[in-house]
Amino acid sequence: MQVETSKPIQNRNGAINSVQKDDLPIHGWYRFVLSFPPHLVRQYITAFDLGSEDLVLDPFCGTGTTIVEAKKNSIPSIGCDAHPLVALVSRVKTNWFLDAAKLRSALKRILRGADRLATKHSLYSRFFTASTCQPKA
Ligand SMILES: C[S@@+](CC[C@H](N)C(=O)[O-])C[C@H]1O[C@@H](n2cnc3c(N)ncnc32)[C@H](O)[C@@H]1O
Repeated sequence: MQVETSKPIQNRNGAINSVQKDDLPIHGWYRFVLSFPPHLVRQYITAFDLGSEDLVLDPFCGTGTTIVEAKKNSIPSIGCDAHPLVALVSRVKTNWFLDAAKLRSALKRILRGADRLATKHSLYSRFFTASTCQPKA
């Protein structure tokens, strides 16, 4: 048997396991070391010919790779996870009805509060720059 040895195994697996550029806006938002790549889920969605009449269950959904990809393809899905933080990340990644203006306003309120606290405790507070609150051009 001939084995390809020109590249180290970790390099070959690296590309397969990496999140592709187009997937970064959703899947790159919170990187979870245990997550698998979205394109793998898409391969299975295609292989199993899944559609809107199916239901995907991921009982170990982690940060939601499977349920996000299902949602992108209009496939109903259910995810759960024992860990509350990754369950929260999944809920955030599958909530596509957020009001950006409300989020920006909440962020400003939080940053102002952090600034006030930092000032009160004589901490340098310029970490909290207003640029994070600006709408994207
Ligand atoms: C490999 S990770 C899943 C990663 C996920 N596919 C993703 O892309 O983010 C496995 C998940 O199973 C969860 N888990 C382990 N035991 C569990 C249990 N008994 N019930 C529910 N979730 C569990 C862990 O908290 C972990 O998030």
